[in-house]
Amino acid sequence: MKNGLFITFEGGDACGKSTQVKLFKEYVATRKDKEHFVFVREPGGTSLGEKIRELLLCYEEDSPVPKAELLLFLASRAQLFEKTILPALNQGKIVVADRFYDSTIAYQGFARKIFEADEILKLNEMILGKYKPDLTFYLKIKPEIAFERKNLNSLNFDRMEKEDLDFHQKVYEGYEFISKKEKERFVVLDATKSIDEIHNEIVSSVENLIKNNTKKCKT
Ligand SMILES: Nc1ncnc2c1ncn2[C@@H]1O[C@H](COP(=O)(O)OP(=O)(O)OP(=O)(O)O)[C@@H](O)[C@H]1O
Ligand SMILES: [Mg+2]
Repeated sequence: MKNGLFITFEGGDACGKSTQVKLFKEYVATRKDKEHFVFVREPGGTSLGEKIRELLLCYEEDSPVPKAELLLFLASRAQLFEKTILPALNQGKIVVADRFYDSTIAYQGFARKIFEADEILKLNEMILGKYKPDLTFYLKIKPEIAFERKNLNSLNFDRMEKEDLDFHQKVYEGYEFISKKEKERFVVLDATKSIDEIHNEIVSSVENLIKNNTKKCKT
């Protein structure tokens, strides 16, 4: 088995995850080893997962009860992990994910209080075994500032985005919790900085990670 790398982007709604993943993808396209990178998003990332995503975010006729919501997120993750992420890591690839299990801790754990965070971590372990991201970019921003961005820039909100400020405050607390508990893999970024400044910090962290991983593989 080769040493792949797993990088995740995390943070509350409208913190800038997808903006940064898109810019990062553009940067990757300029690298010689661009075919070594695999981009995924959660929920979704597989054909089944994308259907689950629709159910989770847009199906309003019979919205899931909290436990069903949690299990649907986990079902999407199990499919993505076994079908895409794990095979890519085993081939030595670099997998980049827009959201992963820290989102479950923050949204279903802290905000919805479906189960305690430690119980949700256990459920994740059942899916991922010993695997954890090697590097997680946490785009940290107070929800009230992110809310302003969202109101300025979008007209259609999904089911999570429609939750109130109190919900998003708890999401923020969830990210604070997990970023301290598993701090060795976290890079906390000030998401109020400019898009370019944040992008440059991301690129330099990833370049360091790849350099160190290459050294590790040679020894
Ligand atoms: N650093 C930044 N400064 C100002 N505005 C930003 C910044 N980063 C992103 N934005 C803007 O904020 C909005 C939300 O960004 P984006 O969709 O990337 O967030 P997200 O974290 O992916 O949100 P979601 O959780 O809903 O998927 C967009 O309109 C984007 O242009
Ligand atoms: Mg997004």
